[in-house]
Amino acid sequence: MNYEDFVQKVTSYGQEHLIKLYERLDDNKKEKLLEQVSNINFDEVNNLYALAKEKKEFSDVEINPVEACDASKLSIEEKERLEKIGIEAIKSGKLAVVMMAGGQGTRLGHSGPKGTYDFGLDSHISIFESFVKQFKEAEEKYGVPVPWYIMTSRENIKDTVEFFQSHNYFNYEEGIRTFFSQNELPMLDEDGKLIVDENGLIKEAANGHGGVFDALVSNGVLSQLKSLGIEWIFICGVDNILAHMVDPLAVGFSIDNGFKCTSVSCIKANPEEKVGVLCIKNGKPSVVEYTELTDELRYAKKENGELLFSEGHLLMNLFNVSVISEIAEKELPYHVAHKKSNIVDEEGNVIKPDAPNAYKFESFIFDAFERLPQIGVLRYKREDCFAPIKNAEGVDSPETARALYKAYHNL
Ligand code: UTP
Repeated sequence: MNYEDFVQKVTSYGQEHLIKLYERLDDNKKEKLLEQVSNINFDEVNNLYALAKEKKEFSDVEINPVEACDASKLSIEEKERLEKIGIEAIKSGKLAVVMMAGGQGTRLGHSGPKGTYDFGLDSHISIFESFVKQFKEAEEKYGVPVPWYIMTSRENIKDTVEFFQSHNYFNYEEGIRTFFSQNELPMLDEDGKLIVDENGLIKEAANGHGGVFDALVSNGVLSQLKSLGIEWIFICGVDNILAHMVDPLAVGFSIDNGFKCTSVSCIKANPEEKVGVLCIKNGKPSVVEYTELTDELRYAKKENGELLFSEGHLLMNLFNVSVISEIAEKELPYHVAHKKSNIVDEEGNVIKPDAPNAYKFESFIFDAFERLPQIGVLRYKREDCFAPIKNAEGVDSPETARALYKAYHNL
């Protein structure tokens, strides 16, 4: 894009502040800014801003609880039968893991990618290394390495790859397949202006964990999975250190029931817990985010006193490869997060806000559920599957997750 086209584009979309900022940049950054502007879809930016300003109405939404299979209530025989089906699939190389590690981890505040975080065991292993241990154990058990694909953001791919390289891939090089990046979207201020960061460039951020479908397709990972004969991918976050990624029960349960997707859940610790809940929304499998759950639903109880909406969505979902391209064909809806972000004004001053001043747009993986006729829900005991590291302190912090991890592994 040349300068004239740049001026024309930003002017016609009311983003003239970028012209003043351009003048302040060195030649290298000027070129980068032109490239950014040329790649940004400004009509989409306008739609995102309209979304941020929209008042959400939930009145036409009917939400019902979802049925789940409680793994702890399966008979020993049934559990073994399902596991056997799963083990067969794993042994024939039909399972891969896609770990979503493209988040910014702002709440934790660790300076590198979250997976590189040492969560305080005596061994000082990082989150990534704790997962390598699982993969190695699975390889020993099932006789095949389970391929591991790691989704990063454009922001953290370099640091993530370098971390693995500097640790010699934790001697699991045959299993670690590809690092690939998800897409980004620009962030906007409250007037819909593109935010400029301290480098003088437009601030862009990863487009949410729902970006995984498009990223799998556009980076060629899906075709690779298909050519390897992989039929199932377990897609999970990087920050639940009790996630079981190679889970024969989940695989066997999906195959046996003909589910193209199974979501692993556990019961919410309390009504206020900040996890989304699996449900049936307008007749379709879905998740209501904790921010979107009304108090009426949050505290609603069954006759036996249990919470009616308690099936926590843990970002652990097993998908059949056959549905991924179909899901990726149409963009998932975006959700708006109101965040604090440093902003550079037209005079080049850095403004550090005390309150949220910026909109970030993310799609969520669970919005794909409603594109499927049904999904399976497999419930585990919380202490066996959920130890998230989200915050630096307090709930869901390294301290709480470490305690759960130690209890589970008898450390
Ligand atoms: P979170 O929603 O907890 O976000 O991500 P986060 O970015 O890690 O942390 P905060 O909100 O900034 O503190 C849940 C999982 O989804 C991944 C994260 O890496 C984490 O494993 N994720 C999130 C992505 O891979 N891409 C995204 O764009 C967002």
